[in-house]
Amino acid sequence: MIRTVEALDALRAQVAQWKREGLRIGFVPTMGNLHAGHFSLVELARRHADRIVASVFVNPTQFGPDEDFARYPRTPEQDARGLDDAGCDLLWLPAVETMYPYGASNAVQMRVPGITDVLDGAHRPGHFDGVVTVVSRLFNQVQPDVAVFGRKDYQQVAVVRYFVRDLAFPVELVVGETRREADGLAMSSRNQYLDPDQRARAPELHRTLLAMRDAALSGADAVRVEAEAAARLQSAGFDVDYAVVRRRDLSEGGGIVAGGQVALVAARLGRTRLIDNLEF
Ligand code: PAF
Repeated sequence: MIRTVEALDALRAQVAQWKREGLRIGFVPTMGNLHAGHFSLVELARRHADRIVASVFVNPTQFGPDEDFARYPRTPEQDARGLDDAGCDLLWLPAVETMYPYGASNAVQMRVPGITDVLDGAHRPGHFDGVVTVVSRLFNQVQPDVAVFGRKDYQQVAVVRYFVRDLAFPVELVVGETRREADGLAMSSRNQYLDPDQRARAPELHRTLLAMRDAALSGADAVRVEAEAAARLQSAGFDVDYAVVRRRDLSEGGGIVAGGQVALVAARLGRTRLIDNLEF
């Protein structure tokens, strides 16, 4: 049966006891309102660790002033039930005051250079500073041996990998595949913001990624692939932040590149911003 913990000393005592028993701790950080995509990350964590901690914390420092922090769905009881079914042992549910004892606006800030200047970092200024600020705290609190992140947040994985290496956090990173609805739409808590008309258009994001992959693999140059993808999304009613082909380290590189490429899109339907990606 899952245990829900809201106090840091209780979390630390439980993790310390597991470590004394020689157990390996797996960690799945989330912002809650969990769906099958999150539960698959818990199941993946179980393959790499003996005890699993998941956190649910809607992190104020990674939302911009005009973003959806206030309306982000908060469903902790439902999350605890789903985590229990997925085989999670402990739900870490800190309050904002526990995460940020001096308040979110007086928190020690972290920033990863370079890689956060592009794509979502460029379109959501400060977003990755908030992600790194909270994930480093979560790692200090939970002290996991292994942490699992979803590939849907492709740039986030790269940013976390960077700071884990740079600050020598003793945490192994594992990346879980994106879970999709039957029509290809990547699972996301934000999908529920979509009205029926927007929901019907949303799978075009995944279809566009497939078309980008096919065009790039058949030799079309990246500039043309990206322009066609943006036009396709616009004609389906999206406001496009970016539709790009990159090397897997997110640097620019045309043509077929050794080590593979990734197509990434971010686009808005009304006020809802969706992201997705596809490696090839
Ligand atoms: O991917 C998310 O849900 C969040 O960015 C994370 C990693 C839980 C940090 O708040």
